[in-house]
Amino acid sequence: MVRRLWSDGVLLAVLIACVWWPLATGGAPGGASKARVDLRSPKYLHYKQEYRRNLLSNGLGVTPPMGWNSWNHFACAVNETIIRETADAMVSTGLSKLGYEYVNIDDCWAEIARDYNGNLVAKNTTFPSGIKALADYVHGKGLKLGIYSDAGYFTCSKTMPGSLRREEQDAKTFASWGIDYLKYDNCNNDGTKPTVRYPIMTRALMKAGRPIFFSLCEWGDLHPALWGAKLGNSWRTTNDISDTWDSIMSRADLNEPYAELARPGGWNDPDMLEIGNGGMMKHEYVVHFSIWAISKAPLLLGCDIRNLDKDTAEIISNKEVIAVNQDSLGIQAKKVRSEGDQEVWAGPLTGYRVAVLLVNRGTYRYTVIAHWDDIGLPLDTVVEARDIWEHKTLKNTFVRNITATVDAHSCKMYILKPVS
Ligand code: GLA
Repeated sequence: MVRRLWSDGVLLAVLIACVWWPLATGGAPGGASKARVDLRSPKYLHYKQEYRRNLLSNGLGVTPPMGWNSWNHFACAVNETIIRETADAMVSTGLSKLGYEYVNIDDCWAEIARDYNGNLVAKNTTFPSGIKALADYVHGKGLKLGIYSDAGYFTCSKTMPGSLRREEQDAKTFASWGIDYLKYDNCNNDGTKPTVRYPIMTRALMKAGRPIFFSLCEWGDLHPALWGAKLGNSWRTTNDISDTWDSIMSRADLNEPYAELARPGGWNDPDMLEIGNGGMMKHEYVVHFSIWAISKAPLLLGCDIRNLDKDTAEIISNKEVIAVNQDSLGIQAKKVRSEGDQEVWAGPLTGYRVAVLLVNRGTYRYTVIAHWDDIGLPLDTVVEARDIWEHKTLKNTFVRNITATVDAHSCKMYILKPVS
């Protein structure tokens, strides 16, 4: 609200400066008359529109991005062979057909020193062929290449430079290499607010001549959900995830209050997936994937997809769960009810359908109930329920509520479709 008042105040000041003042002082185009100015007149609408213009209009992220990122599994041990083989695996495993398209290099890909002209240089020992060659390779597979930089002087690993004060130059470099996605971190900055530093890169990317998905990695410090949509296609709402039950559930909780601020073109990002990294049980990874999917989070795999085990492949390839994430309505689900360790998450889908997730965070089996008045269905609606982990449409129809017995650290996920 304060922000709104503030921005409206600035808008008014801009309008006064640009419109009223020249008119009042006789400098108006078309005459020196001191006629009253109606700021609501369509004549002046473009000033308002110009001021409110979204800095980012790249048309990307209409549904949450899907792909892979090197950090969760490889951290700084990433190299061009891993990236090439990951691109190969994305295709050979069938993941690319399911919508996974971005292959994203995280931190540690560059030399600590820029070249003679101040350009970023790929690290010679790990990326000897250079990033352009890698982009060509990845594009040749029908995929997209992402890269990482930082709105500071150095990235978080401190092994390479950040882009602060080099935004235009670096954005041009990325575009010239054929980069499709930029994750932009927040370490080692100059102490100014992210709302000062991030827009500079947004503008630089818009000028760089190539649509580049812009992922703001500000860790949720300054509530980027409140300002991120004008600057980026996604914004981290949390600090770093790790491969534990507590970590994924707390990240889910931190991300959830911002649900209403997600929309096609700009998504809340509770961090990348840990499925397949070995720290959790299969049913816990199922909860992880389900919450990320229903929350319209970016589905960026974080395991070694060159060596997928059967359980991991099954989870990340679940077409019906992916379809919930990619539903064109683009509305992030909310946690509509929690009683102790039992939670109901729900969100609307196209076709008057509702995605419902019953989660048991506790260590005993429990019955979880989703009531229609909690999940946004008129009370007398009769629905058909599709269990999208069992891939079965339940025999009975349901009215008023749906109930399931849910094991410890497990979930049930349904799509409810009205039949009356
Ligand atoms: C930060 C980010 C992580 C990762 C590392 C790399 O911690 O939040 O996702 O990019 O930096 O150093």
